[in-house]
Amino acid sequence: MPNDRPIGIHDLTFRTTSLTLPHTELAQHADVSVAKYHHGIGQRSMSIPAADEDIVTMAAEAAQALIARHGAHQIRTLLFATETGIDQSKSAGVYVHSLLGLPAHVRVVELKQACYGATAALQLATALVRQDLTQHVLVVASDIARYDLDSPGEATQGAAAAAMLIAADPALATIEHPSGLYTRDIMDFWRPNYRSTALVDGRKSLKAYLHALDRAWSDHQERGGRPLHDLRTVCYHQPFTKMAHKAHEHLLRITGTKADLSDIDTALAPTTTYNEVIGNSYTASLYLALSSLLDSSADLDGSPIGLFSYGSGSVAEFFTAQVSPGYRSHLRTAEHHNTIARRGEISYATYRQLHSLTLPTDGGHWDAPLTSAGEYRLTGVHQHQRIYQPTRATEQPAA
Ligand code: HMG
Repeated sequence: MPNDRPIGIHDLTFRTTSLTLPHTELAQHADVSVAKYHHGIGQRSMSIPAADEDIVTMAAEAAQALIARHGAHQIRTLLFATETGIDQSKSAGVYVHSLLGLPAHVRVVELKQACYGATAALQLATALVRQDLTQHVLVVASDIARYDLDSPGEATQGAAAAAMLIAADPALATIEHPSGLYTRDIMDFWRPNYRSTALVDGRKSLKAYLHALDRAWSDHQERGGRPLHDLRTVCYHQPFTKMAHKAHEHLLRITGTKADLSDIDTALAPTTTYNEVIGNSYTASLYLALSSLLDSSADLDGSPIGLFSYGSGSVAEFFTAQVSPGYRSHLRTAEHHNTIARRGEISYATYRQLHSLTLPTDGGHWDAPLTSAGEYRLTGVHQHQRIYQPTRATEQPAA
């Protein structure tokens, strides 16, 4: 069998949490002009997990949609990328494997490098498919972005899970070579094991992101990657959506490409729709940007696009993909609009309560209140173990 078949993203979907806090509400309580949030950082609302939601519940629902369409028989690997790990030892992917009833003969592993983890998973997945073109690899990226209350990062919080099926002859996009890579040891954003919120040097992180873009792009070009003018647009990791604008301006500047602000807006607007209302979803963010672009009205049949992945600490990758002809008939736009629309708006007081919620760490029993509108929920914690179930199995029958 020829080994030059295109490999890439055969299916892609995402899910978010059941609750949301609009930035109008945050601005009022933080005594900040809402224009700073809406225009300065480009965020309108953020997804907040209910007490019975976490990275596993979001990931299981996103992955389940892929299994429902394609079956699980070709899946031999499940790669789970996250920086919101729930266990130092066991992969969150094993919980998803169990909830979805995936075949036993599958390898499951968790990957971590801040927001970059999902791109590492995607690249590893393409290599695995190259070994055996009949295989599918399930890549899941799921995260909850949490910063301290009343900190500058607070307005950029969010949560989502993206799930992708990587396969030969992909229906959505072929992943191209080469990739431009860059790693640098820097303390711009990190989360020690004993903390539930990230530590960040905001200004330093913006500079580190742009520097990494610069270096990853140069590496991409030196290795014969497509020039910028070949690319229809670029999907960026979006810690907040204005970061994509800063990044694109930077890329245009270093490549000597002339463009005004409205050209940048036109190129990037289709990529920011979902992240604007969901917030930072760390590993999933870049793939929500890609989803947003594919779901937009732009006709991308056969178009090459750029993707820039950045994970603080830091690792970055610039790569390109070619959108598959006929991709539109494989999209899940209605599902994406639904996961956003079904979120219930919460008050600022409820948001703060949820932010401060801690689960037992002494082996004690805790039952999660039933809040999630999703298909899977965390029902509680018992003897240090998280218990997950399909939501319908835990609902009370109607009287
Ligand atoms: P800040 O310091 O409070 O905000 O927080 P600011 O004062 O810099 O204002 C932000 C923007 O709003 C500025 O625009 C202001 O001018 C504008 P800019 O000058 O940058 O173009 N502004 C207004 N605009 C309109 N009307 C107004 C108004 N007021 C101000 N009234 C900061 C900003 C990014 C530092 C903060 O949100 C933060 O700490 N965020 C977390 C870190 C982060 O997101 N870093 C991004 C790069 S690192 C990364 O992407 C990795 C990451 O995802 C983690 C991972 O890899 O795992 C974070």
